[in-house]
Amino acid sequence: MLKIEKLSAGYADTQVLWDINLSVERGETVALVGSNGAGKSTLLETVIGLVKPISGLIELENKPIYDDSASISIPTRERVKNGMSLVPQGRHLFPNMTVEENISLGAFLQNNRKTLKKELEKVYELFPRVYERKNHPAGKLSGGEQQMVAIARALMSKPKLLMIDELSLGLAPVIVDILIEIIYDISKTGTSLLVVEQDVQVALSVAKRAYVLETGKVVMKGKSKDLLDDPQIQSAYLGI
Ligand SMILES: Nc1ncnc2c1ncn2[C@@H]1O[C@H](COP(=O)(O)OP(=O)(O)OP(=O)(O)O)[C@@H](O)[C@H]1O
Ligand SMILES: [Mg+2]
Repeated sequence: MLKIEKLSAGYADTQVLWDINLSVERGETVALVGSNGAGKSTLLETVIGLVKPISGLIELENKPIYDDSASISIPTRERVKNGMSLVPQGRHLFPNMTVEENISLGAFLQNNRKTLKKELEKVYELFPRVYERKNHPAGKLSGGEQQMVAIARALMSKPKLLMIDELSLGLAPVIVDILIEIIYDISKTGTSLLVVEQDVQVALSVAKRAYVLETGKVVMKGKSKDLLDDPQIQSAYLGI
């Protein structure tokens, strides 16, 4: 459902991503791991259209959203309309707005109040903790709850592909376990997921397949359990 081929991208005069090939099948959850500065966020931001690629191809459900050979590059808004959504690293909530106001921002393409309400009910079902705090300022919530709000907001546009940048960073293990369960629940609804996660154990427990990114290149890919057994991964990420 997501296909990335020979994608290169960067900022002004620095190239960050080099010839990335990556795919996510329909209903699949794929993890992207890699150390600080490897280019994980840049990759997600390039897919959603916030970073301009240098060359390559990005397809969503067999339709090009970026193709340098055909000079195609559709704007972020259209990418969201076509079914992709991003939970950005650091969450980017509005701390003084209520939880519900923050979540509702995710439905910026939706003008119909009734539909908006229905979507809100759906995400509250997935996040009962968030529902309980819907009238609180988002900034008053714990880190884990804020992450739930950010995911809820991203779900409001009913994405077919949900991308999450740093699922568990800075969160307590009990909260991480809840988030992992939520990822399973989202996946069960048929949504495809691409999850950036620095904790390899967490990454490989949410996803059956993973890619390892190092200095802007995919250096390894495969089944999560094979990667966990890989001596290189063990020494680089697990300290074994
Ligand atoms: N706006 C920007 N302008 C210029 N360079 C940038 C910008 N954002 C990121 N970079 C550089 O691009 C490279 C990749 O950064 P990126 O944030 O994509 O990595 P990451 O894998 O997400 O790292 P982290 O684990 O810290 O989130 C880094 O060298 C970073 O300094
Ligand atoms: Mg990042």
